[in-house]
Amino acid sequence: MLRGDGFELRPWTVEDGPAFFELWGDPAVIWWGPAADRAQSDLILRRFLERTAALPPGLGFFAIVRAGQIEGNVFLAPAPFAPGVELGYHLRLRAQGQGLATRAAACLLEHAFAQLHLPRVYAAVHAANPRSTGVLSRLGFEALGPVEHAGMPHQLYVLSAPSPGSSPGASSP
Ligand SMILES: CC(C)(COP(=O)(O)OP(=O)(O)OC[C@H]1O[C@@H](n2cnc3c(N)ncnc32)[C@H](O)[C@@H]1OP(=O)(O)O)[C@@H](O)C(=O)NCCC(=O)NCCS
Repeated sequence: MLRGDGFELRPWTVEDGPAFFELWGDPAVIWWGPAADRAQSDLILRRFLERTAALPPGLGFFAIVRAGQIEGNVFLAPAPFAPGVELGYHLRLRAQGQGLATRAAACLLEHAFAQLHLPRVYAAVHAANPRSTGVLSRLGFEALGPVEHAGMPHQLYVLSAPSPGSSPGASSP
């Protein structure tokens, strides 16, 4: 488990099925294709659990938990669109607009750079997803150019590990 300022990141579990469906079944959040029902949501959750179990500790899919409530998902996993690890994040609507995605991602990135010694982390953002672009720019990611992801045009971004001695973490919003 990773602790941030007012939240925790912990691996998802099978017991999180109802909360995961509230996130992954919401078309306002999973706008490219939400889970149609609880059964489909459970299958997606199980895939996340299997992928997390197969990755080194610190990589995988994490529930963002604040005051005992699951508010979203943040992950680091091998990227299908770049030679490395990708960052992704999804927040319940009620938790958006508060800086939580940026803080949760910064917490996971700090662990990835300081403990796992990843040299860099990639992210792909759909051309029409300015809120996601906002998260990446607050974190200090740099745009590399267009990339195809999930059959849709995206922009590829990268963040390199901080050089020794510099202070990692998100820039202020
Ligand atoms: C992408 C997504 C996570 C971004 O959520 P978000 O709430 O905009 O991002 P943050 O949690 O970092 O919050 C930043 C916003 O909170 C505001 N904010 C308020 N209080 C803040 C605080 N204390 N600290 C930082 N930001 C704060 C910021 O000004 C910013 O708002 P603005 O964009 O209107 O300027 C969210 O839109 C989402 O889940 N989208 C659907 C899933 C998705 O597309 N994921 C990415 C592709 S995988």
